[in-house]
Amino acid sequence: MNISDSIGPTLIGKHIVLGVTGSIAAYKAVALLRTLIREGAVVQVVMTQSATKFVTPLTFEVLSGHPVSLDIFEARQAMTHVSWPAQADAIVIAPATANCLAKAAMGMGDDLLSTMLLTSQCPLVVAPAMDGGMWTHPSVQEHVKTLCARGTVVVNPEIGPLASGQIGQGRLAEESRILAALHAALAPQRDWQGHRVLVSAGPTQEPIDPVRFISNRSSGKMGYAVAEAAQARGAQVVLVTGPTALPIPRGVEVVSVSTAEDMLKALSMRLAWSTTVIMAAAVADFRPTHPAAQKIKKQGHTGQTLDLEQTTDILASLSAQRTTQLMVGFAAETSDLTAHAQAKLTAKGLDLIVANDVTIEGAGFGSDQNAATLIDRQGGMTELPLMPKRALADAILNRAHELFCSRQSSQSPSPVLGGR
Ligand code: CTP
Repeated sequence: MNISDSIGPTLIGKHIVLGVTGSIAAYKAVALLRTLIREGAVVQVVMTQSATKFVTPLTFEVLSGHPVSLDIFEARQAMTHVSWPAQADAIVIAPATANCLAKAAMGMGDDLLSTMLLTSQCPLVVAPAMDGGMWTHPSVQEHVKTLCARGTVVVNPEIGPLASGQIGQGRLAEESRILAALHAALAPQRDWQGHRVLVSAGPTQEPIDPVRFISNRSSGKMGYAVAEAAQARGAQVVLVTGPTALPIPRGVEVVSVSTAEDMLKALSMRLAWSTTVIMAAAVADFRPTHPAAQKIKKQGHTGQTLDLEQTTDILASLSAQRTTQLMVGFAAETSDLTAHAQAKLTAKGLDLIVANDVTIEGAGFGSDQNAATLIDRQGGMTELPLMPKRALADAILNRAHELFCSRQSSQSPSPVLGGR
C-alpha cells in the first residue's frame, strides 16, 4: 500500500525524531524511515545500543541523510539530547521495547533516547514490539497506562506470529497505523472549539494597609497552562488572574485582579458568557477585617494582631448561580487528599475536581510539574502521575470534554454549542 496516497496531510517540513530500540522488528524502522522521508519529513534517527545489534546505524544514516545518534557522551553530539527534541515536531519510537516503555514511564534517562524524552515537549508516539507474554505482563501494561495518561500515543502491537514462533500480541503495528497515529498527534486538536472557558489563576492579595497584604505561594502556572491549552484546542478563553510574573498566553483575554472580591466580581460578570468555569486560582480564604487606610507604623504597635474575616467562596457562589456551565475546581490538600477533595466537590456543587497533594516534592505551588487525581461527580477517579502542568492541563480538558459529551448524549439540545 502506498501510505503517502492513503494518509491525508503530508509531513512536509516536519522534524521527526525516530527512536529505534533493540527489538527484532528494528528492521521495519528502515521502511518507516523511508516513508517518513517520502512524506517530506526531516528525520533524525536515534538508536539504542541494543538496536545496533539488529540494524547498523549506517543504514539509517544513508537513508536519513543525517548522522545517527547513539551516545549522549559523543562530542559531536554534544547537547543533542536537548537540541533535537527542541526542534522536533514529534518523536516516534518504533519499535519500542518493554525496557524503553519502562524507562519512559519512570522518567529514567540512562541513554540518549530516554534522556531526549525527558527534555522534549513535543508529541510522542510509541509503537511497542515484544513477545506476547511480555506485552501482557502487568508491569508493561502499567507503564503503558502511565504513558497514555500523560498523552503519549501508544500504537498497540498486533496479534500474529512472533519471533519466538508463538502466536500472540506483540508484533510491531502496521506502518499505516503508526503513520496515522503520527498524523493525528501532529494535527492541532480543536475539540474545544465552540466552548467559552472562564479560567482563574494565581493568588489573591488581601490588603492589610497600602503596602502590606496577605497572600499565598501560588505562581499561577497551573491556571495559565489550562488557559493556554484550552485556547490551543479551539476554545475562547478569558483568564481572570491574580498577580503573577507570567507572560500573557497567546490568544487569551486576560483580566487582572488583586483581591478575592475583585476576582469574584470579574468572574461573576462573565459567568453567563461561559460554558465552562475552571477555578485554578488560590483564593485567600481570609482578609483583614479593617484594612488600614495609612501605612501601619511600628511605633506603638508591639504585639499587633490582625482581625480577619472570611472571603466569599467564589467557586461555591458561581456554582450556585450557574445554568448549564460545567464547573471545575481544584483542591489543594496536605492530607486525606481524596476525602477532602470529594467533600469540596459536593459542597461546591462541582462536576469535576482536580485534587492536588501540595506536599509532593516537585509538585504544586511554583513548580512546573504537578500530580493530581481527577474526581468527577459520578464518582469517576483518575490518578495522574507527576507531569508538566501543560500536560496536566490537557488531561483536565480531556476529562472535562468527556463529561460534556456524556452530558450531551443524555440531554438535548446541547448545553455547549446552543449559544446564549
Ligand atoms: N476557592 C474559591 N474561593 C475561595 C476559596 C477557594 O473559589 N474563597 C476555590 C479554589 O479556587 C479551588 C477550590 O475553591 O478551586 C478549593 O480551594 P481550596 O483552597 O483547596 O479549598 P477551600 O475551599 O479554600 O478550603 P480549605 O482551605 O479549608 O481547604
